[in-house]
Amino acid sequence: MTQHTDIHPALQPGTLQNLELANRYILAPMSRASATADGIPTAEMARYYARFAQGGFGLLIAEGAYPDTDSAQAYANQPGLCTDAQQEGWMHVVKAVHERGSKIILQLIHAGAVSQIVEIPRGPSAVRPEGEMLQMYGTKQGPYETPVELSDDTITEIKAGFVQAAKRAEEAGFDGVEIHCANGYLLDQFLTPETNLHAAPYGGSVDNRIRLTCEILSEIRSVCGEDFVAGVRLSQAKATDPDYFWAGGLEDAALIFSAVAKAGASFIHLASERHGYAYHSSTREGVRLTRFARELTGLPVIANGGLEASDLASDVLSKGGADFLAIGKSAMMNPDLPTLVAKQQPPRQFTFEMFSYGVSVASQLKWEAEQSAK
Ligand SMILES: Cc1cc2nc3c(=O)[nH]c(=O)nc-3n(C[C@H](O)[C@H](O)[C@H](O)COP(=O)(O)O)c2cc1C
Repeated sequence: MTQHTDIHPALQPGTLQNLELANRYILAPMSRASATADGIPTAEMARYYARFAQGGFGLLIAEGAYPDTDSAQAYANQPGLCTDAQQEGWMHVVKAVHERGSKIILQLIHAGAVSQIVEIPRGPSAVRPEGEMLQMYGTKQGPYETPVELSDDTITEIKAGFVQAAKRAEEAGFDGVEIHCANGYLLDQFLTPETNLHAAPYGGSVDNRIRLTCEILSEIRSVCGEDFVAGVRLSQAKATDPDYFWAGGLEDAALIFSAVAKAGASFIHLASERHGYAYHSSTREGVRLTRFARELTGLPVIANGGLEASDLASDVLSKGGADFLAIGKSAMMNPDLPTLVAKQQPPRQFTFEMFSYGVSVASQLKWEAEQSAK
């Protein structure tokens, strides 16, 4: 692809598998709890996602959708992708984004032990997650519950749920899916030795603990078209334990990255919530994992965590070994971030006051209306 030397590196076109993207800016997946009670995406969500396409984001990763109705849902009003009505709702979102020239993939997420809505949460083992449930997503509150250990049969059903949801995503017109193995949700609960006391083949060694994610990726590869993107989001930190690092450092990272690459992942996305890229996209010893992942696997790598400043964006792409930047909170505040960078204008500073009325899109719109009336 042609490189234009006179423009900011984040505004250079890029390729994700066969997907040609206008630039390196990606909307990070962010749960907005704005679907109907049955998990159907709404017209308001289509307008919300269209804003980021209009503002110039090359790719949008739509918020984590639950892939089965049994035990995957994390929050009330979270969208799903396991019914015909949910699939139909997503088609409108996809259309609104494609019409404005951006690509869109959907994140598939299983909450496992950290579900705040499932009556009896399930997990790899009966180990209570650290910390307290997230207040902004309502429903249950207080310390997490001890989950019921998943049987191997139920694990097989969960895997099938992810694969069917990916197939539905393809039918709905999405350009791909991102499998969520990050932030302390189910697949990361499997990857994490403290929450996975399961026997082989899904517990024990790193290879066993990443196995479920890999099986999901390779089955998606075999049922979806060649051009359909299927990447993976990984992280060291967890919503339940923001200071967590992979215990085996670079050795663990090498096993994890090689395994997902071998399973056919289209990309590796390293999430760095809370403490940001500089802190959490490296091992505890300071080895930069974005660069390491790309050099080891040859796959495109997406960096994340406070990357909205244009000089930092430039550094991460040129020195950090990342190919793309996933922007979260700052994108909510600046759905036109790529346009601002092109005009060399600074982004508006994100503030948690945006969630004064709640985390939903409607709450954000209410807050924005209030701000513009001031
Ligand atoms: C409101 C909100 C919802 C989020 N929902 C998700 C989600 O559904 N899936 C996910 O992987 N990460 C989720 N995240 C984490 C973001 O994708 C991102 O990793 C984090 O905000 C750090 O990036 P930033 O510094 O650019 O905001 C969420 C973050 C926020 C603030």
